[in-house]
Amino acid sequence: MKLLKSAVPLAVAAALVALLAGISLSCSSNQKQDALYKIQKAKTLIIGTSADYPPYEFHLLKDGKDLIVGFDISIAQEIAKDLGVTLEIKDMQFDGLLAALQAGTIDMVISGMTPTEERKKSVDFSKTYYYAVHGVIVRAEDKDIYQTVESLKNARLSAQKGTIQVGIAKTQILGLSEAEAEKPTDKVKELGTIKNLILDLKNKKVDAIVAELPVATAYVNNNPDLALAAPTFTDDEGGSAVAVKKGNPLFLEAINKTLDRLMAEKKIDQFVAEANELVEN
Ligand code: ARG
Repeated sequence: MKLLKSAVPLAVAAALVALLAGISLSCSSNQKQDALYKIQKAKTLIIGTSADYPPYEFHLLKDGKDLIVGFDISIAQEIAKDLGVTLEIKDMQFDGLLAALQAGTIDMVISGMTPTEERKKSVDFSKTYYYAVHGVIVRAEDKDIYQTVESLKNARLSAQKGTIQVGIAKTQILGLSEAEAEKPTDKVKELGTIKNLILDLKNKKVDAIVAELPVATAYVNNNPDLALAAPTFTDDEGGSAVAVKKGNPLFLEAINKTLDRLMAEKKIDQFVAEANELVEN
């Protein structure tokens, strides 16, 4: 009996030691598996983006150089700066971004991406750093026709492939149910880049493009033959967030820390204003 009495606390202590050792062990191996470790070792943060989305991300010709700029890029630069690494940008079609993330060719997606429930099944999102409603780009000559949502029902609608705007066109303009909207339809034309959609709009192959309102406004400001339709739309999930591969809590935490800092310093609004100035020039 006596032996047992002293053995109990001893066993508890031993178990505790084993548990603590286990925790710290799993911590360090988890740390090594976290993308943060890989990024810091490589000294490079590789981001994926679809640079057809001013003021979020777009190409800018400066002194004969093709640069990718925008407020998402400014945010990414801050994340890289806080991590003490250099930023590398991979420009690709929006609908290929999440696959690139899964494949490990990029470390994170920053591309005005909305953190939808569907996407959350395959990737993790940071906090939302920017909110915008959605607008519709039409040809300037048709502007007066598209004053109501009802009038847009008769337009040949389009949106960037793989974006939530395809769903917005289907549900909020065409009035389809969520279930119906899941199915493919030729009522909304989907192309890989906004740039190609703009060409189609100018060539009268489509009549309207749904995009985030700041983007629609940027294209309209730069193209006198384009205009905004009157209606705008909101979505429940709203906003833009950074996507990372699942299972990288440390990397995600670091991203959120930078976003918190930028929001506290009101830097994001400043980046948006700066990006809009670049678009207009
Ligand atoms: N917010 C929309 C979405 O997540 C569209 C984003 C498109 N971004 C871009 N860079 N083209 O589906």
